[in-house]
Amino acid sequence: MTKKIRKAVFPVGGLGTRFLPATKAMPKEMLPVVDKPLIHYAMEEARAAGVEHFIFVTSRGKGALEDHFDRHFELEETLSRRGKTAELEALLGWQPAMGEVSYVRQPEALGLGHAVLCAKHLVGDEPFAVILPDDLVLAEKPCLAQMVDAHAGVGGNLVAVMDVPREHTQRYGVLTPGKAEGALTEVKGLVEKPKPEVAPSTLSVIGRYILESAIFGHLETQERGAGGEIQLTDAMAKMIGEVPFHGFTFDGTRFDCGDKVGFLQANVAFALARPDIGPKLAPFLAETAAKL
Ligand code: UTP
Repeated sequence: MTKKIRKAVFPVGGLGTRFLPATKAMPKEMLPVVDKPLIHYAMEEARAAGVEHFIFVTSRGKGALEDHFDRHFELEETLSRRGKTAELEALLGWQPAMGEVSYVRQPEALGLGHAVLCAKHLVGDEPFAVILPDDLVLAEKPCLAQMVDAHAGVGGNLVAVMDVPREHTQRYGVLTPGKAEGALTEVKGLVEKPKPEVAPSTLSVIGRYILESAIFGHLETQERGAGGEIQLTDAMAKMIGEVPFHGFTFDGTRFDCGDKVGFLQANVAFALARPDIGPKLAPFLAETAAKL
């Protein structure tokens, strides 16, 4: 029997340098796709997968994230006074309940692995999910829920993977693939940001993980890797052979919203998928495309 995934860690301590100047004073994770900040989608995805405790690893200047998940009494009172019942219900509907959210601070942006390690005392000794909010997945069944189902069958470490163009391997953790069965591919090796000519495959890890808590022991002794950062990929690689370890090819389209073009694509795709917005936007897009 695999343990239920009750906790999710959201590393949001990064500097977001690819999205300057927008991210100088505003957290990257607060950038809106259509009408919701990225972090809101991440929280919804975790909730849809059965997660009960949401752990944010923040840093200086990320206060807007905490405000987003906090009550806003003046706003609630104003909506109520103006009879905007639907808006008020929507607002209260997604707000986390008392005790569901924890924040821990990453004192220095030392990398994704370091950010995850900051959550060790809040995760404890149980398998947990990691969601990178700037990786947004448009899917019928949310990506993490797909992973939780697959994890119930295999346990161990499970990472979301997709095939990327070979010239992009340097942006990702890349798998040495073993036996493949359906959506699952056994992980035989894992390397962070390999050059295209030496990448073991093009099967690359995106921002969704289910990890055994033993990862923390490896992160504690992990030396700095690619980019001088403590890499989650390097610590995960040490667990190959220790626990079952699979890549999971999810159903859906992933957008890198930490990148300006990826962010714009996500806005278009998510807007088109919305019945209240898609039909209004589509004619403009068609007209614009015809002029290209
Ligand atoms: P990125 O590689 O996108 O880095 O991090 P970044 O700093 O956020 O953005 P750029 O590349 O400078 O534009 C992937 C995820 O890991 C988190 C980020 O917040 C993001 O969710 N992260 C990264 C941390 O929490 N702490 C870190 O030290 C580094």
